Amino acid sequence: MEKLNLKIVSNPIISNNLAIIRDKNTDSEKFSSALKRIAYALFYEASNNLPLVDVNIETPVANANCSVFDKDMQLIVAPILRAGLIFQEIAQKLFPFANIHHIGMYRDEKTLEPVWYYDKRKEIKKDKNKVYVMILDPMLATGNSSVYSIENFINKGVLEQNITFISLIASLQGIENVNSKFPNVKIITASLDEKLNYKGYIVPGLGDAGDRIFNTLD
Ligand code: URA
Repeated sequence: MEKLNLKIVSNPIISNNLAIIRDKNTDSEKFSSALKRIAYALFYEASNNLPLVDVNIETPVANANCSVFDKDMQLIVAPILRAGLIFQEIAQKLFPFANIHHIGMYRDEKTLEPVWYYDKRKEIKKDKNKVYVMILDPMLATGNSSVYSIENFINKGVLEQNITFISLIASLQGIENVNSKFPNVKIITASLDEKLNYKGYIVPGLGDAGDRIFNTLD
């Protein structure tokens, strides 16, 4: 594998909140709050490739040259159900103009093909150079659902280099899976963990993110 298209976002706030999230004794409410605090940092990083235009703003004192998001841009935020929903609220705060396209799929055990049970993606109507996609899933484990989601956006006309995959914790296997097929898709994460276990869980990870967010542990 060539150089990975990967950014691990790291700072003391993220480290402190990752410890809260990983702790098996953290309840759903605290888990979700800590995850959202990290989400801000991931989205700030992900915003780096979004187009800006120059504007001149009048301050109470003088004129200032500023940069604002290009209004011609279409930003699609795509949370993968169900754990990806935790990132949605933060994305909507930071990018109130974004289109939210929920996606849900699983792999058929027999055919090994993805089965889409929920797909709110729309046709891309704008100039494709100005269409950006952020796919959200806190856990990038095997990378299979990530690959299917990316593939589907590319089939709809989105440019590979305009797609960013945002996760909280990623495995090397998952990153290599995505990067080997889509080297121009940037992966942003807060942690690169050791490995996957036989059930496909990230180790050390945090367990099942959906169960921990939605309080559906046994
Ligand atoms: N999905 C999860 O929720 N956790 C993992 O560790 C892997 C996939």
